[in-house]
Amino acid sequence: MKKILSIILPLLLVVACAAYVSAQNSQKEAQNMTLTDKKVLVAYFSWGGNTKSIAEKIQAKTGADIFRIEPVTPYPQDYNETAYGIAKEQKDKNIHPPINNTDVSPYDVVFVGTPAWWYTMAPPVMTFLEQNNFESKTIIPFVTHGGGGGYTIDKDMKKLVKGTKVLSSFVVYERGNSQTDDEITKWLNELK
Ligand SMILES: Cc1cc2nc3c(=O)[nH]c(=O)nc-3n(C[C@H](O)[C@H](O)[C@H](O)COP(=O)(O)O)c2cc1C
Repeated sequence: MKKILSIILPLLLVVACAAYVSAQNSQKEAQNMTLTDKKVLVAYFSWGGNTKSIAEKIQAKTGADIFRIEPVTPYPQDYNETAYGIAKEQKDKNIHPPINNTDVSPYDVVFVGTPAWWYTMAPPVMTFLEQNNFESKTIIPFVTHGGGGGYTIDKDMKKLVKGTKVLSSFVVYERGNSQTDDEITKWLNELK
């Protein structure tokens, strides 16, 4: 009996290990359905570099293409001139300024990154969403902010791309901290 057990027990252990590894693999496959085998673009606007830094992390982790949205007329380098001057005026008058643009038609999934500007996305991002056709694509917003959080930016985006699937925003304070990298990895793995 002892001899039989000494043969069967290791065998059972091997079978159990194989089953565990296989379960882990299929769990991995179930995750990231949003990105697997998809053509992915990371499009972002950034005035001060925070959103750029998050965009580049997402790009590095997904192998996506990356595109920086830029207004045709650049914002001033001075914070007050931008924040309380032109950006405030664009917010108050609902101006969506002309931008460089890119062809989003090859992509299935578009990450759209923006700083929070006056409680919503920055105006060049509004132009980007309006000027492109996102039909049958998925938009994944990410937001950097100065303390106010993500506001309703994902919902605001949804209004500009009616009928398009827009996921909940990934929200980061400024350019994040030492945990941000891991949080981005976790978020990307859990996307549905
Ligand atoms: C014009 C302007 C408006 C802003 N409005 C907000 C705001 O409403 N709420 C907030 O939390 N931060 C606000 N901020 C701070 C930025 O969202 C924050 O610093 C962001 O990380 C900047 O990203 P960037 O470096 O990619 O431009 C504002 C900054 C600017 C320049």
